[in-house]
Amino acid sequence: MTEAKTTFLRDYTPPDFLIKTVDLCFLLDETSTKVSSHLTISRNSDAEEQSSPLILNGEQLELISIKLNDRLLSENEYKFSATELTIDKVPREFSLNLETQIKPSANTSLSGLYVSRSIFCTQCEAEGFRRITYFLDRPDVLASYTTTIVADKTRYPVLLSNGNKISTKELANNQHSVTWKDPFKKPSYLFALVAGNLEFIQDKFVTKSARKVTLQIFFEKGQKEKCYHAMDSLKKAMAWDEQAYGREYDLDIFMIAVIDDFNMGAMENKGLNIFNSQTVLADPESATDSDYSYVTKVVGHEYFHNWTGDRITCRDWFQLSLKEGLTVFREQEFSETIGSAAIERINTVKLLRSLQFSEDAGPLAHPVQPDSYIEINNFYTMTIYEKGAEVIRMMKVLVGPELFRKGMDIYFERHDGQAVTIEDFIQSIEEGSGYDLQQFRLWYKQSGTPELYIEYHYKPEAKTFDLIVKQSCPPTPNQLTKKPFYLPLAMALLDAEGQAFALQLTGESQVVDKQRVLTIKETEQHFQFVNIDSKPVPSLLRNFSAPVKLYVAYSDKDLAFLMQNDSDYFNRWDAVQQLANRIVMRRLEQPSASDESANLLIESYQGLLTNITKENNALFAELLNLPSEAYFSEQMKVVDVDGIHNTRLWLREKIAHDLRVQLLKLYKTYQDFKPYTFNETAQAQRRVKNTCLNYLMLLKDTAINNLAISQYQKADNITDSVSALSELVNNNVSESAQFLNDFYEKYKTNTLIVCKWLAIQAYAPLGDTLQHVKDLLKHPAFDWKNPNKIRSLIGAFCTGNQAQFHQISGGGYVFLSEQIQHLDKLNPQIAARLLRPLTRWQRFDKTRRELMREQLECIVKTTGVSPDVYEIASKSLVG
Ligand code: TRP
Ligand code: ZN
Repeated sequence: MTEAKTTFLRDYTPPDFLIKTVDLCFLLDETSTKVSSHLTISRNSDAEEQSSPLILNGEQLELISIKLNDRLLSENEYKFSATELTIDKVPREFSLNLETQIKPSANTSLSGLYVSRSIFCTQCEAEGFRRITYFLDRPDVLASYTTTIVADKTRYPVLLSNGNKISTKELANNQHSVTWKDPFKKPSYLFALVAGNLEFIQDKFVTKSARKVTLQIFFEKGQKEKCYHAMDSLKKAMAWDEQAYGREYDLDIFMIAVIDDFNMGAMENKGLNIFNSQTVLADPESATDSDYSYVTKVVGHEYFHNWTGDRITCRDWFQLSLKEGLTVFREQEFSETIGSAAIERINTVKLLRSLQFSEDAGPLAHPVQPDSYIEINNFYTMTIYEKGAEVIRMMKVLVGPELFRKGMDIYFERHDGQAVTIEDFIQSIEEGSGYDLQQFRLWYKQSGTPELYIEYHYKPEAKTFDLIVKQSCPPTPNQLTKKPFYLPLAMALLDAEGQAFALQLTGESQVVDKQRVLTIKETEQHFQFVNIDSKPVPSLLRNFSAPVKLYVAYSDKDLAFLMQNDSDYFNRWDAVQQLANRIVMRRLEQPSASDESANLLIESYQGLLTNITKENNALFAELLNLPSEAYFSEQMKVVDVDGIHNTRLWLREKIAHDLRVQLLKLYKTYQDFKPYTFNETAQAQRRVKNTCLNYLMLLKDTAINNLAISQYQKADNITDSVSALSELVNNNVSESAQFLNDFYEKYKTNTLIVCKWLAIQAYAPLGDTLQHVKDLLKHPAFDWKNPNKIRSLIGAFCTGNQAQFHQISGGGYVFLSEQIQHLDKLNPQIAARLLRPLTRWQRFDKTRRELMREQLECIVKTTGVSPDVYEIASKSLVG
């Protein structure tokens, strides 16, 4: 059994020692790399203990030698375990020289120094630096780094690390070396090294104070054309941070390195970001429209970390959302200026509702600031990232943009160069805005998704409109009762034409505005608006002003009205979500329920279809897409796997049938728009077209199948070819196997396209998909060393194909459990992430629940199970 050590926030103490400078030298070799580290260390005068031993972290290192102030230590002067090196007696100030040996090519966990294809690269967040050398591997130890890399000149002509290049040398035996110096102090998790036979593209950015910055993207040969979109996104991000937050870039050079085998999306190492190839590379042949947007988002996210993460970092890992929530929020604001703000918001909320709300409702629920963890890598969650971003957004909505900016300025000025806490951030916003955020802090401490219940009454004689808002929050693990949250409720009252009434509360002397942000702080609050001339429909929680579940006693007609008339586009979309949800839930309860509300939804679509224009195309496509099966599942106490699948399908078939003529017309309008262009209008048209095709295919009509076939054959971009291919596969069209083959033959050397090919097959809602996925594990296209492949095949099947994964035989569960046990030995971080779908076992019927639990128990008992997997599996069994 694994020894699971829990770390608690309440146990935080400042480090006993500080490290001023770090001089590293790497003699790169795939099987055995020698790392020399020269550290200058002193006791921390802030520490309680002034005579404690020096304890350095280290894992999977082979120690060669230690010198203290240049004197070689004998073996009885230090001791080491599998995770620590302890030196009992050290002076107040001293230097340490450590020599260690590591094995990059044997590193399959992709944490520390490893080899991806033939490129050396590092991943040090959260605790990977300790797999490179012994160190105080914690984010509150900030040091100046100088890094020398020595390697074979032919195989590794490019040698990169953080900061500026200060020297290069030619050495004997075809070796060369490069030295980098980072002028900014940083924690070890931001250290990076990349070495390989890489090409690069280069550009420049002139900052607002006229400093010239060189921008470079490094990649394996042959990918040049795919890097320009990322470069373009980078320049946009740099300009945006100056304009929105007055933040300039601070080094003379900014580099991005592209790596195939990478655990997550990308990493914000100072001056040398490392990216999963999936989040940088984009060209029309290999990247869909949504891939393009995703590249812009990730490039923006990592760039924005330079200020929120690198210049100002986290004191400890319990503060993770300080950098992640804030950076996600900044990236969302950036993306809202690049594309359509409403669609950006809709996509953000889709993600939040499907993945974060379910996390918050399950056994792994945790606050945005957790109070304990076993493995910190398990806490890079939707709650830390996405809910963390929502919490920042609420602060901005509450205090308003100008005062929020003042608070941000204080934060940047006061804490530059420091490792700080979420509390420091909130205090900055309080000072900048003059608001008291005492109660608001609960958003960081209480887990679970709050629920808002809203009732309203209109009195025609008095012309008053009463709004009653109640809040509560369900219990979550270790938090049975909750205090009320402080949140902004953005709202408007719409008349029959969809125009907003001027809003004046009883007791107010004048009209304030047509949209207001009501402050909610209590369990129950009443608001009364006056001078409302006719019965309004309220538009509530506009633009999703708080991450809550909203329950309003709307009639179906109100929802149909909002869907067509609300000037808040987010709420138009949300009205569809609510209406579709009612239709599906009613039918699940009572299969003979009338079609009346479904007809109302379809009539409203018809109303929208007559007004479809270039401008609202993209929004229309969003409205037409029904919520996912995962979304419907969240609304049920016990998930009815097959019922949800079939009822959602029934509604989509009905829409396809009733709107056949209009959908076909729309499809044909956009069918032949060629050649491919990449801009917002063209993207929206492709999205509308492919959404129409998605519905039309449900009609099982040969003429329509032929449209899909022809779209697949004639497409000049991957958005269209992948959409068509998915439709052929999902609808089991007889030619689909042939087209899948054709697609693979065409693209088999392009890893990213092969990932799409795997995912298309894993998502197919067909009875033989599980068997097919098992077969694909043995296909040359699959690769256990590449997390993208694992996510595209196993991840896609287990999280994106609910009905097949949860088939009643339990075959899906056994399959996942076997893959996790295999993967855990290679890459525990990815194994633990893959485990998520099993953790919601309590939400299913008795048969499935037992089958899932059986697999979790089996995983927990596996000999040699990693702390990563152990933590997720054991906590989900208890919760
Ligand atoms: N800090 C990174 C980001 O938000 C994510 C990250 C954390 C990461 N741990 C990682 C990336 C491990 C890759 C591997 O962008
Ligand atoms: Zn991040």
